[in-house]
Amino acid sequence: VTGKRAATGGGGKPTDSGEFVIQLSGYQVIVARGLLDRVGDHCAATAPAHRYIVIADSNVAPIYGARVLASFGNSAVSLLEIRAGESGKTRESWSAITDRLLATGHGRDTTVVALGGGVVGDLAGFVAATYMRGVPYVQVPTTLLAMIDASVGGKTGVDTGAGKNLVGAFHNPSVVLADPDVLESLAEAELRSGLAEAIKHGVIADASYLAKVRSVISTLSSASAAERGALLGSIIARSVEIKAGVVEADGREAGIRKILNFGHTVGHAVELLSGYSLLHGEAVAIGMVVESRLGEQLGVSAEGTADAVSQALELAGLPVRVPTEMRAADIIAAMRADKKVRGGRHELALPAEPGRMAGADSGWVIPVPEEEILTALTALTA
Ligand SMILES: NC(=O)c1ccc[n+]([C@@H]2O[C@H](COP(=O)([O-])OP(=O)(O)OC[C@H]3O[C@@H](n4cnc5c(N)ncnc54)[C@H](O)[C@@H]3O)[C@@H](O)[C@H]2O)c1
Ligand SMILES: [Zn+2]
Repeated sequence: VTGKRAATGGGGKPTDSGEFVIQLSGYQVIVARGLLDRVGDHCAATAPAHRYIVIADSNVAPIYGARVLASFGNSAVSLLEIRAGESGKTRESWSAITDRLLATGHGRDTTVVALGGGVVGDLAGFVAATYMRGVPYVQVPTTLLAMIDASVGGKTGVDTGAGKNLVGAFHNPSVVLADPDVLESLAEAELRSGLAEAIKHGVIADASYLAKVRSVISTLSSASAAERGALLGSIIARSVEIKAGVVEADGREAGIRKILNFGHTVGHAVELLSGYSLLHGEAVAIGMVVESRLGEQLGVSAEGTADAVSQALELAGLPVRVPTEMRAADIIAAMRADKKVRGGRHELALPAEPGRMAGADSGWVIPVPEEEILTALTALTA
């Protein structure tokens, strides 16, 4: 699966100025170092408005808020700071933000700029989707996860007491601006968590990209800041292209989009059972190892697939075993409560081999009996 390439600078090749442009239907994802100083220009070009409101969390606003505001020159722009963390992605935050916009007289001719990780992207996107029945928004993702995953696909929303992302809307951004240099200030664990999703993109769609991610991971620590920006920029561009290709081949959530769930069925259960002490990418890393092991057990995945997945994740410093304190039966119970269980069989997206997913003829999922999951989990509990 490949994304559509723009006339210049597709995911594979940057333009002369080092910019990658990935064309999705309706908007572009632009990846370039230093893009943060051009946010205002890109907003004026793709989502011109009377007023701009930049929404950022309490970690990102102090680091990048002023630079982004300055990029708007004389345009009317203000910064709205919200509390950092998943616990702020709620309807209460949504109502506080929309009340604030109403109180400060923001009309239909407002563009929302989401400056931050996936939490800010989802929340600010949902504000934009609903404010005055929908205003434009621009995504400026600042975590690797937000750049390669959350900002692509148009899903916005908030969490509720009953679960994550249960209230939301599809609302495409006008443009996505990913500046890899901002990852310099990101905590290493957060970067690793994003790398788990990049590795996932390689496994589900492109073996040579998986090899590239591995080589980038091994050079990152000895690279200069400028080199890291360039290396991560090329990773972001290809990952965006892969995710966009899958999402656009699918439409809304049926069929091939399911391959993006690789590692997530087991991963979500592990994430939940850890009480969210594991980062999403860490839980998904464990999930990918368990699920590819399961694939081999069932004869769905080529021999060596689980090792290849596991080695790439270990290189990135991600966990590849189920934490000892977690019981296999509890993980399975959490999976059952999650979804996708039919007649005692779980439906999982499993790799045929690194770079290609199985199940093209069965809606991209494979029915798996619980005993098999139990066996794989037990084998991989440290
Ligand atoms: N819409 C989608 O399709 C989609 C897909 C995947 C995930 N998500 C959502 O994304 C969220 C997770 O996103 P996330 O992992 O980016 O988490 P996050 O937004 O909470 O960011 C992680 C942490 O890094 C900080 N941070 C962000 N950028 C920084 C930077 N450049 N420098 C220093 N600190 C920085 C944040 O303040 C936060 O503390 C979840 O809510 C998830 O549901 C959405
Ligand atoms: Zn994920």
